[in-house]
Amino acid sequence: MNIKPVELEYEEIGQGMPMLLVHGFPLDRTIWNPVAQDLKDEARLIMPDLRGYGASPDANEIHSMRLLAEDLLALIDRLKLEKVTLVGHSMAGYAALAFAHAYPNRLAGLGLVATQADPDTPERRQARLLTARETKRRGVKYIADGMPSKLTHDPEIQKQLHEVIMKCRTAVLVNSLKGMAERSDANPWLEMISVPTVVIAGARDQLIPVERSQTMAQMLSKGWLVEIPEAGHMPMLETPQLVVDALRQLICHVGKHI
Ligand code: MLT
Repeated sequence: MNIKPVELEYEEIGQGMPMLLVHGFPLDRTIWNPVAQDLKDEARLIMPDLRGYGASPDANEIHSMRLLAEDLLALIDRLKLEKVTLVGHSMAGYAALAFAHAYPNRLAGLGLVATQADPDTPERRQARLLTARETKRRGVKYIADGMPSKLTHDPEIQKQLHEVIMKCRTAVLVNSLKGMAERSDANPWLEMISVPTVVIAGARDQLIPVERSQTMAQMLSKGWLVEIPEAGHMPMLETPQLVVDALRQLICHVGKHI
């Protein structure tokens, strides 16, 4: 496998055990700001931009989940951290599961936010590849106009997300869509994850049905579910305080476990 990580840009705040907060598609590290302010006294929070997003470079190849996991590993190595708690939102949750599978010894804890272990169904894969083709043809605005209302019901947050998405580059979005379409089924990996894992799900998530999170939490030996009735796909922006509480619980479990 020829895998060449890129050097991710990141922001760091707080002190304590290292916790990576990683954004989903097609966003950047700023989505964690409301949560980071309240958690900074309990953990050293490291918020990277995934390849191609925010300030991080892209290498113009398909963003396979394994590749995203390698980027995160390279960052963790660069920071000389032996183990981290990795919190991944949506696409970064897919990458976090790939990381857990490839590098179990580098994990102290895991957070899976608005994500799933299931791969795309054949229909979803076709639809995603069609979206990739349309994005290539029509540009970033196609995603920036269509996606925010699927991410959240809150009009203010939709506006904020539109701005974040408009900063993306077309090729980056296409690379991510293709990477998500080809991702593996992570279900067989779940029972091998032995670290405390919080699964955070919004009951109003329009992209990932909450049942997927319920099943995932059941399959994890040290997993538990935090279901947020009023949240959609963006609980860290919609209900930041509840996400802070859930991550605080994770920090506490990881502290007892190590
Ligand atoms: C994300 O929010 O990262 C993606 O929308 C997830 C997906 O499309 O499967």
